[in-house]
Amino acid sequence: MTDPYHLGAAPDLTCDPDHLADSPSWIYLLREFQFLYRDGSDGGSTAIRSHRKRVREAISIILDANPAILSRTPSVQPVTAHLPRAFDLGRRAALSSMSAALERVSDRLTWEFGYAKVPKPLEKKYAYCEVAGPQGPIHSDRLILGFVLFAPSTTYPQHSHHDIEESYISVCGAWSENQTAVYAPGSLILNSAGTEHRITTGRTDPCLLAYAWIGPSERLAAPAMKFSRSSKARTREGI
Ligand SMILES: [Fe+2]
Repeated sequence: MTDPYHLGAAPDLTCDPDHLADSPSWIYLLREFQFLYRDGSDGGSTAIRSHRKRVREAISIILDANPAILSRTPSVQPVTAHLPRAFDLGRRAALSSMSAALERVSDRLTWEFGYAKVPKPLEKKYAYCEVAGPQGPIHSDRLILGFVLFAPSTTYPQHSHHDIEESYISVCGAWSENQTAVYAPGSLILNSAGTEHRITTGRTDPCLLAYAWIGPSERLAAPAMKFSRSSKARTREGI
């Protein structure tokens, strides 16, 4: 008996095409970032207003340029076991359409740590995936867009980003930065270049944050991420 599924090679519907215009799911996700940075409030902050504008403009340039979709090998990390719950929460939160657009490409995401050395306890607690940037999948040397996922009860150690301005927008979960305030879905935090920050997340739910990095293209291509030395270590070294 002939097996109809072996008559010829079936088209691979999950395979990324070469350019953005041929990949509706990546376009829709990019547009969700565009809406976020266009429609959200700046809370009266001129720094946030100007950051939103720069991110928005960089996204428009990407959409107009129809860049290559770079092929990246999808990968998961221990924390991605929390991703289904993050999508369940995201579905009924303020950024439900962003959450749904990410879910549509979830089998194509490359989850990674980004640090040469990750503290052992953090390996199960965190990972990020990029959506646009020098490494792709949507190629851009002007900005990086991505998502970071934290397990419940995570402390993401103090760090800063040299030359890179960073904003986080909550998709689901509750989190705090530098022990001040609690941020809910829809909230935006701006970390100007070089600002030290440390993140903690709520006890019961995972936390998914969309982020944008903007800075010089050479720095975006090689951000050299590293954690700041703890105050204990600095005291030990007499700094
Ligand atoms: Fe950061």
